[in-house]
Amino acid sequence: MSQTEVAQAKAMMSTTVDKTKMYVSLDQSQAYSEFRPRYNDDLFRAIVDFCKETNPNLNLAVDVGCGPGMSTIGFCKYFKKVMGVDVSETQVACAPKDIPNCEFKVGYSDKLPFIKSGSVDLFCSGESFNLMPHKETFAEADRVLRPGGTIALFGYDVLRADKPEINEVIQKMFVKFLPYWPKESTLIFDKFRDITLPYSDYKRREDLKIVDKMNLEQYLGLMKSLWPFVAYCKDHPEVDLAKELRTDMTNVLAKVNKPGDTTFDIAWDMFILMGHKPGK
Ligand SMILES: C[S@@+](CC[C@H](N)C(=O)[O-])C[C@H]1O[C@@H](n2cnc3c(N)ncnc32)[C@H](O)[C@@H]1O
Repeated sequence: MSQTEVAQAKAMMSTTVDKTKMYVSLDQSQAYSEFRPRYNDDLFRAIVDFCKETNPNLNLAVDVGCGPGMSTIGFCKYFKKVMGVDVSETQVACAPKDIPNCEFKVGYSDKLPFIKSGSVDLFCSGESFNLMPHKETFAEADRVLRPGGTIALFGYDVLRADKPEINEVIQKMFVKFLPYWPKESTLIFDKFRDITLPYSDYKRREDLKIVDKMNLEQYLGLMKSLWPFVAYCKDHPEVDLAKELRTDMTNVLAKVNKPGDTTFDIAWDMFILMGHKPGK
C-alpha cells in the first residue's frame, strides 16, 4: 500500500481488539492453515544466509506468532531444531505434527521460560510482530539469542491480482473490513517501516514475492481465515458475508475470464527486517 493509503486505512481501524484473541476458533485456524499463502524458499534462504554472516551454527530457530506453522516449517531443512510458538491453541492445534526436528508450543512471544538464555540462533516472526508487545518481545529475543544470532521480522502486503477488475473487488472487500482490523495492522500494510530493530547491524529486503494462482473457493477460504471476516460476521449476523464475497468475485470472473474458469493470478509482496545481535 502507498503511504497515503496507509494513513487513510489507519483512520478507520480499531483500537479495541485484544490481539491475543483474534484466532480462537478452530474453523478460522483450519481456514488459515489451508488457505493462507505459503512462503517460498527464497524467503527462508534469505534469512538463513543473513544468519550465516555472523554465526555458522544453525542449531535452533524459534518462530513466535507461528500460527499453523507456515512461517516455521521452511526453516526445518536448514536448522537442527525448529520451534514454533503461538498464543492461540487452535492455531497450534492446526500445525503439522510429523516433522521430526520441529516442535510447536502455546506461549507468548515475550515469555519463553522453556527456552534457555543464549541458546537460539534465529528468533523470527512472520506476519505477526505487529500484534505483539514490541519492547517486551525484543527483550525476550535478546535474552534467548546467542551473540551473533539473528532476529528476523517478515510478512506480506495486501493480496494483489494481475487483472485490475479483480483487484477492484479485492479492494472493495478490503475497505469493508478496515474498521475491524486492529490499528497495529497498519504496520504490516506499511511493511514494518516504522519498526526499529534493537540492533544496529540490520538489513531490510522488499524484493521478494509470493506468486501464485487462486480459484474462487481458495479466495473465499482465505477471506474466512481473516480476523475482520470473523469480526464483521459477529457484528452483522443479518448479513451473509460469504455469499456477498462469492457473488462479487463470481461476477467479475465471469466478465474477465473464459466461461467456467474461476482461477486468477495473484502476488503478495514480501518484506523482511533482519538484524544481528552484537558479539560472537
Ligand atoms: C497473522 S498470524 C501469522 C501466522 C504465521 N506466522 C504466518 O506467517 O502466516 C499472527 C499470529 O500471531 C499470534 N500472536 C498474536 N500475539 C501473539 C503473542 N503475543 N505471542 C505469540 N503469538 C501471538 C496469533 O495467535 C496468530 O496466530
